[in-house]
Amino acid sequence: MTFDPPLHTPPADAAIDQQASIAYWESVSADNNGMLGGYPQTSRIDLVGSSNFLMKLRRSKQPASTLSKQSLEPLERVADCGAGIGRITKGLLISVAKKVDVVEPVKKFTDELFAGLEGEDKGRVGEVVNLGLQDWTLEAGAYDLLWNQWCLGHLTDAQLVAYLSRCKDGLAKSRASWIVVKENMSSDIWKKDIYDEEDSHVTRSDDKFRALFMEAGLKIVATELQKGFPKELYPVRVYALRPE
Ligand SMILES: C[S@@+](CC[C@H](N)C(=O)[O-])C[C@H]1O[C@@H](n2cnc3c(N)ncnc32)[C@H](O)[C@@H]1O
Repeated sequence: MTFDPPLHTPPADAAIDQQASIAYWESVSADNNGMLGGYPQTSRIDLVGSSNFLMKLRRSKQPASTLSKQSLEPLERVADCGAGIGRITKGLLISVAKKVDVVEPVKKFTDELFAGLEGEDKGRVGEVVNLGLQDWTLEAGAYDLLWNQWCLGHLTDAQLVAYLSRCKDGLAKSRASWIVVKENMSSDIWKKDIYDEEDSHVTRSDDKFRALFMEAGLKIVATELQKGFPKELYPVRVYALRPE
């Protein structure tokens, strides 16, 4: 027996309701359990995977003569986009960059970010912007790294393309710079995007992400699947992007 793909279903992103998303996130606890949908134990595995991915990316831009050196120069300015409570800011970005800007629509999460941050680390947090990424206008040519994780499903396809185009213009021109996207991948057998009504977001397929990156004038310079997550979760893929 063969099955045909379903015809004429509306695109999953048509169902996104950004007010409903914010209402959901306002109701969630400001901790790793809330951020990671009841799987707080995946945070450490995720951060190790991200740190290794970023290290390889940065080393690929190092002159060969300096590759044997252990340490990399800190990045000048980066942003944690859709940052939540700053899990990635605190667990990764603050240790690789001089300045980390934070963009997150829910203020109670960015308030939590500062809890437990002191001294030099606190000083590394730059601008805190309480906006959805669809409304964030970033400074041109400013960023070495724009890290987007587990939040882009709250933007429609059109908003995501427009946002990624702004990110492209936001990358530093005179230094190595990247947009990183790390997201769940749709496991639908027809590679369709999946709408989740709990927090009103879509889980996109790898094919869909690639098409949207291309539309935004971006090319993939590195990509890999996250290893070590529980089998019942969606596969997670990380992409590093540069202007085409
Ligand atoms: C699953 S959490 C991930 C947080 C963080 N990136 C991490 O990996 O720990 C999703 C985050 O997306 C935020 N969010 C919701 N709507 C958004 C939007 N339109 N733009 C950016 N972030 C949004 C939520 O408030 C929440 O903090």
